[in-house]
Amino acid sequence: MEVNHTTKQWKIDTPEDHRLNEAADWLKDGKLVAFPTETVYGLGADARNDQAVKNIFEAKGRPADNPLIVHVGDVEAVSELVTEVPEHAKKLMETFWPGPLTIILPVGNQLASDVTAGLDTVGIRIPDHEIGRALLKAANIPVAAPSANRSGRPSPTSAAHVITDLNGRIDGVVDGGITGVGVESTVIDCSMETPMILRPGGVTREQIEDVIGPVGVTGKLAASEQPRSPGMKYKHYAPDTAVWLVREARNMAVIANQLKDQGKKVGYLVSLERAHEMNLEQPFILGSRENIDEITQQLYQKLREIDEHDYDVVLAESFSKKGIGEALMNRLERAASEIK
Ligand code: TXA
Ligand code: MG
Repeated sequence: MEVNHTTKQWKIDTPEDHRLNEAADWLKDGKLVAFPTETVYGLGADARNDQAVKNIFEAKGRPADNPLIVHVGDVEAVSELVTEVPEHAKKLMETFWPGPLTIILPVGNQLASDVTAGLDTVGIRIPDHEIGRALLKAANIPVAAPSANRSGRPSPTSAAHVITDLNGRIDGVVDGGITGVGVESTVIDCSMETPMILRPGGVTREQIEDVIGPVGVTGKLAASEQPRSPGMKYKHYAPDTAVWLVREARNMAVIANQLKDQGKKVGYLVSLERAHEMNLEQPFILGSRENIDEITQQLYQKLREIDEHDYDVVLAESFSKKGIGEALMNRLERAASEIK
């Protein structure tokens, strides 16, 4: 793959902008185009085009056994991609689409085989972002799109993050501003009797269970076990700087002092309230503890900022796992090199 061609940037403010048609044509031509969704930016390619899909894996440095989510503009497009849509999946689509929920269903024969990484299922969603969705509607093809970061890095919540990671490795990026949710979609496997949440995300378990009743949740896997969602076995979202997640508020100062005694430079990734309580100098502030949505939206931005400094260790605050907090804490736990 050519790694030093230019990456075109379209700054798009409204879904009516005709330049979205150009970006859509590029997707139809087999090019790689990153675009905004309500969760994070996706790196899109025609999901039926073998070479285009291969190029996604190469641009990201993504392991070949990690399947991609297929994005569509309308629910009508789903039936061509899958062999069946069970009742519970239909209810979820009606309730949560467009929105941050990826639904896994038995795959049909329309898609490039690398999209599913050899599995017999495919994850599909309609993103709730007016520019991203307008692009999908204009292209009118199924668009495979993982998060538009280099593999292992925090997911991109702005076009600038995409450029930092993938400039010269992809054909274009549609810049639709900062994404709203800030963490990825919830992934739910609906290919079995009792649906199972494989990845917590923008739609909470409580919201899902209100609609279809109790669902399973993947817990910790034994080392030998193959995870149902291949992506969950990889280290993720991690800055290069060591991040230690501190469970108990009262331990943060103690751990900081121990590190400082060893001559280490210590940073903090905390709420506004914690920063005040501890009287911290230049912490990375995620937002107010009272506003867990804001904290979640800021997480990847702040994880990226951490690497612009020269801290030896950054101590991160723990938050409640209620609601979207489950997704927030899942990402923080996976970004952390140690949990204290
Ligand atoms: O919010 C999102 O979901 C973003 C935006 C761009 O839509 N996309 C995203 O894609 O986070 P990615 O590739 O970074 O994460 C997809 C996750 C991975 O953990 C992958 O293993 C899992 O979904 N996945 C995809 N297809 C699957 C399948 N058929 N069975 C099990 N897990 C699947
Ligand atoms: Mg990802």
